[in-house]
Amino acid sequence: MNRISGDSKVRIAVVGAGYWGPNLIRNVARLPQASLDCVCDQRPSRLERIRAQYPVRTVTTELNEVLADSAVDAVILATPPETHGEIGLEILESGRHLLVEKPMAMTAAEAERLVEEAAARELVLLVGHTFEFNAAVLKVRKLIAAGEIGDVYYLHSQRVNLGKVRTNCNALWSLAPHDVSIANFLFGERPLWVRASGYKFLDQELEDVVFLNLGYPQNRVAHIHVSWLDPDKVRRTTVVGSRKMIVYDDMSHDAKVKVFDKGVSKQAVTTEALEAPPFGEFVFLTHTGDVWIPKIDFAEPLHQEVAHFVACIQGREKPRTGGLNGLAVVRALEGAQESLARGGATVEL
Ligand SMILES: NC(=O)c1ccc[n+]([C@@H]2O[C@H](COP(=O)([O-])OP(=O)(O)OC[C@H]3O[C@@H](n4cnc5c(N)ncnc54)[C@H](O)[C@@H]3O)[C@@H](O)[C@H]2O)c1
Repeated sequence: MNRISGDSKVRIAVVGAGYWGPNLIRNVARLPQASLDCVCDQRPSRLERIRAQYPVRTVTTELNEVLADSAVDAVILATPPETHGEIGLEILESGRHLLVEKPMAMTAAEAERLVEEAAARELVLLVGHTFEFNAAVLKVRKLIAAGEIGDVYYLHSQRVNLGKVRTNCNALWSLAPHDVSIANFLFGERPLWVRASGYKFLDQELEDVVFLNLGYPQNRVAHIHVSWLDPDKVRRTTVVGSRKMIVYDDMSHDAKVKVFDKGVSKQAVTTEALEAPPFGEFVFLTHTGDVWIPKIDFAEPLHQEVAHFVACIQGREKPRTGGLNGLAVVRALEGAQESLARGGATVEL
């Protein structure tokens, strides 16, 4: 085990400084308990930009140099998803703690291998499911756990906008890891089955638009729509419960979470006058009450995630989005990919 005491700074290397890596680098650089020791990217131009902005000890285009550098305690991996399985394993085998961006890997077999290696070496393995560190998502989960909305029936989620069009993975693997992780987190369960349909409109072999359904224990369902071919930027999750409903809108600045006192209840027919004609022995009555906007103290989720990674390495916290969490998401995505290939067939997970 490579545990570091709470007094010592964790020396971090970030591998991959493309679009997302600089956000991780910025957060490592501002964390008092960590030092930005090394940045690695195959493209020298990316390294020049980082060097100009941050006091990083060393930069390199070679992953091997990072792995051979005894001053590095931990690595944050922000390379493209198809490289995570192989590079992630090399990092763990070199004895470094690993924070791997989402999706953790492109196959469940690769994700399982990372989980095994981290466990065997007693290393921290964290997966970058940023939304599980988002104060609004945490608030929604807290409300659900407190019974505020009654029994949870289902949720639906939209993550759509124009671009960024990926050429290395489809919209499912690029965008849906977030929504699957949010659904697993809010339900507190892993999905049992998945069904997906997807459509290729642009000139490539990848789905630009994907709709997926995930079935959870107790007949709960999550419906997820992801796309990089849409006029509006929408990041919204709606959770419908037996007593109330919650809308989490990540695009809203002042009302990220709204709790609607709305619902439908089934009531036995009495002899009293009814608003609607009875069907059998029951009628369904709707109620509409207030809308409540809880106060949320928002901190940058990525900062929370990176700080949590460091706290886990220092033994102060336990991984909240550890390897098994990441594996569950990859299993759901792999099942969804199989469903896409089989014309939307149900795939048991
Ligand atoms: N958590 C989030 O909200 C979020 C948002 C965007 C992207 N991501 C994830 O971040 C990861 C990176 O995405 P991106 O959009 O930055 O991709 P990108 O293609 O813009 O950047 C990847 C970088 O990795 C470098 N690279 C590739 N292989 C390498 C290797 N072997 N050694 C060193 N450098 C290498 C490339 O040169 C490139 O600069 C992906 O897993 C993606 O899913 C997460």
